Amino acid sequence: MGKVIWSPQPRQAAFLARPEWEALYGGAAGGGKSEALVMEALRQVHIPHYKGLILRKTYPQLGELVDKTLRYYPRAFPGAKYSESRHTWTFPSGARIVFGSMQYTDDREKYQGAAYDYIAFDELTHFTWEEYSYLFSRCRPNGPGTRCYIRATANPGGVGHGWVKERFITAAPPMTTIWTDLEFQGPEGYTLRGRRSRVFIPAKVTDNAKLLEYHPDYLLNLASLPEAQRRALLEGDWDSFSGQVFTEWRNDPAGYATGRGTHVIDPFPIPASWSLWRGFDWGYARPFSVGWYAVDPDRRLYRIRELYGCTGAPNVGVKWDPARVAREIRRIESEDPNLRGRRIVGVADPAIFASDGGESVAALMARQQVHWERGDHQRLPGKMRVHDRLAFDEEGRPMLYVFSTCRHFIRTLPALVYSQTDVEDVDTQGEDHIYDELRYVCMADPMPPRPRRTAIPASGPLERAADPARFYRRY
Ligand SMILES: Nc1ncnc2c1ncn2[C@@H]1O[C@H](COP(=O)(O)OP(=O)(O)O)[C@@H](O)[C@H]1O
Ligand SMILES: [Mg+2]
Repeated sequence: MGKVIWSPQPRQAAFLARPEWEALYGGAAGGGKSEALVMEALRQVHIPHYKGLILRKTYPQLGELVDKTLRYYPRAFPGAKYSESRHTWTFPSGARIVFGSMQYTDDREKYQGAAYDYIAFDELTHFTWEEYSYLFSRCRPNGPGTRCYIRATANPGGVGHGWVKERFITAAPPMTTIWTDLEFQGPEGYTLRGRRSRVFIPAKVTDNAKLLEYHPDYLLNLASLPEAQRRALLEGDWDSFSGQVFTEWRNDPAGYATGRGTHVIDPFPIPASWSLWRGFDWGYARPFSVGWYAVDPDRRLYRIRELYGCTGAPNVGVKWDPARVAREIRRIESEDPNLRGRRIVGVADPAIFASDGGESVAALMARQQVHWERGDHQRLPGKMRVHDRLAFDEEGRPMLYVFSTCRHFIRTLPALVYSQTDVEDVDTQGEDHIYDELRYVCMADPMPPRPRRTAIPASGPLERAADPARFYRRY
């Protein structure tokens, strides 16, 4: 018997034992996640046609993982060779484990045509949903007798925080299998049905007794971080993470009826005198976003309705042409009782006026009687306007409310994170289309229904007409 090279700690063992197709090992930093991920890759290396793929977002970040494998693999499998130029381990059986990165979404093409039995993502929240799900198609056997599956680790925070949290953390309690039914319609009319499973295994730093034994100060390092980061990295808390842009955001059902201490509220009928606005961010392969807003006499903005062109998979667009988007806008505006028969001012991403050869998106929509003004797309001033509107006053009331029916806004706005390259700005790789459309409306500085008529004598016949909206004020 040789000596033990590596043995899992209890929580790592729980991760390694999971039967699901996808498993995420996530939470605190230093929990032993990456270590478990690279060791799992060895499970099938005795099979000659086995291929594993271990991914990090950027190539330089892979160094840490390669070091782990250099430490363990040759000892576990004497004769295993690492090729630095091909970033590939080759085992005596012929099996291979490859390291890869996906700095740009187009890097997906590097993996086109390849097949891997094991695909591992380290730091999954650095990836977008498109990048992650693309590799599902690459998870298939190279020969008989292998198991094909996907594993990942993550800390809270990063551009993928929102979709990772939704897919693994809020979908079910930890350690519980989540099932998705899948259906495939074949061209000849047959239907293929199946189920796929996934699971979330939480990681705590206190799970990693080895680390605390070697570096007893590590806990103190984490404990001294700023609050949000500390809760994310020490406690593995997915609700608080460093990098969130709109930390003011509150969605508190206890305030839905009163509008206090929350941005989300119950819908209500919009008074006829309030002005109405519509914001637009165009997208085809990515989602487009249309938001309808009402402005009350105090200039408060209410997002009352939305049309979001998303397939259901995060950040994937429905690929409608501009005329179809415009027709859908017209349908909604002719049916929604808050919008029907009303004057609505549209502001859009100025890019829709660009025509490179053909007709612009704006022109194609104008043919369908949907008109837009050029929005102001200055990013940082727009972001400040959003912050200003989200701030609560002493009574706990913000200047922007969102109807509880606008579920895509409620899902995406709080998930926006800061860019790694432009630390002042929102990361544009996140699902930011609804936020962009909101910015155009905020920059247009929507005016209240009508000016107060202070110049008109209080006793005149016009008095009765003055500002009926005040009687409708809800809060
Ligand atoms: N099973 C184990 N045996 C020995 N040391 C371990 C084990 N798991 C983790 N460690 C130690 O803990 C450190 C942190 O683990 P790592 O997997 O890098 O954490 P994470 O990816 O969760 O931040 C490793 O560098 C290693 O020194
Ligand atoms: Mg790690």
